[in-house]
Amino acid sequence: MNPYQQKRRWKYSLLTFAVVIASGSLLYTSYLVRNIAKSERTRAEVWALSMKHLLIADDDDFLGYVMSVRDSLSVPAIVTNNKGDVQFTRGLDPTKTHLKLEAENNKAKTYDPEYFKRELAYMQDQHRPIKYKVYGEQWLVYYKDSPLLTQLKFFPYVQLSVIAIFLLLAYTAFSSSRKSEQNQVWVGLAKETAHQLGTPISSLMAWIELMKEKFNAEDDSLIAEMENDVKRLEIVADRFSKIGSTPKLEEHRVYEVVKDFVDYFKVRISKNITIELLGNPHLQAGLNVPLFDWVLENLLKNAVNAIEGKGSIIVEISGNKIKKQVFIDVTDTGKGIPRSKFDTVFQPGYTTRKRGWGLGLSLTKRMIEVYHNGQIFVRDSELGKGTTFRIVLKNTRYDKETKS
Ligand SMILES: Nc1ncnc2c1ncn2[C@@H]1O[C@H](COP(=O)(O)OP(=O)(O)O)[C@@H](O)[C@H]1O
Ligand SMILES: [Mg+2]
Repeated sequence: MNPYQQKRRWKYSLLTFAVVIASGSLLYTSYLVRNIAKSERTRAEVWALSMKHLLIADDDDFLGYVMSVRDSLSVPAIVTNNKGDVQFTRGLDPTKTHLKLEAENNKAKTYDPEYFKRELAYMQDQHRPIKYKVYGEQWLVYYKDSPLLTQLKFFPYVQLSVIAIFLLLAYTAFSSSRKSEQNQVWVGLAKETAHQLGTPISSLMAWIELMKEKFNAEDDSLIAEMENDVKRLEIVADRFSKIGSTPKLEEHRVYEVVKDFVDYFKVRISKNITIELLGNPHLQAGLNVPLFDWVLENLLKNAVNAIEGKGSIIVEISGNKIKKQVFIDVTDTGKGIPRSKFDTVFQPGYTTRKRGWGLGLSLTKRMIEVYHNGQIFVRDSELGKGTTFRIVLKNTRYDKETKS
């Protein structure tokens, strides 16, 4: 199974798991809430009943019993007569629930009719009242959910948030551990390749020296060409070994490094394509030349591939003095990249070429971001007109001649 499929399966199972837990928890909590609500109504009924008996009872023992029942019930409630006058309350804010009469008799006590009104409206909204008759008068018992039940109603949301956070953390940990694994494989492969290339390259060098002696041909052009190719191989091996270690960045004039590579590249492409280098020759940046050459090679090769028939490539070096940045823009007159693919082109495996691997730009991005602490992006592109890729590097130093 390919890693992308595997990753998607993981995502789906995590998601299913989350949905199962979430709905299970919602169902169970709503079951609890329903049961507790039922039992609270019973409590309110018992309380109402005990109030009634308190009022009409003349047996003291019975009264004591009724009072203990009454006080053990915890649902907040208000009793009114049929005109809506408050008769008794329980379980409300004790600083505000004194009755009018009490407050008038005792100055320390406060009577807050607004508070009663608010509470009553809230209770009327929550449950239908329990009715009973006292001395021929219809009394109404209003009650609201206990604090416990109210908390329980919020509980699923708390729980769901906790689960969501947990899943998010799990997923992040999982995907970052996979990433570092991929990095290790990547770096290991590069190191191993460099290592394995090393031996045949040095013996090839030795063979070439031997051939020069044997055929006594110091300036034989064939041997010179061979030597060039072997040197090229050495550079390739060097690049791979650099990927595996943290390369040193050295101060360079960007223009000079780019010029060396462009001069090398120029003579190796079709005569129908021209390459021009423009811009500020003084800007400096920390570069690792073998890796930076690799970056240029990838960008220039892509530009060449994008051009069908005749075309031109312009490499321009510019800078932003205030932000201390150096820009390297590679512009071609090729087929262009659709806007929706500006980010996708940097993903490994994305290619539109028949023989492409789609690794060039992902490697390039890595070399710019990880090894040069820079940025690379598609600055601009128009289908059928051309594309500009921009590299941004830190301008570490301006030399004396730098004016612009
Ligand atoms: N200068 C460009 N102009 C148009 N398309 C480009 C250009 N550079 C890259 N691309 C697109 O990005 C894809 C990925 O490029 P790259 O990672 O170098 O892989 P490859 O060259 O193997 O296809 C290319 O196949 C092409 O579709
Ligand atoms: Mg490429």
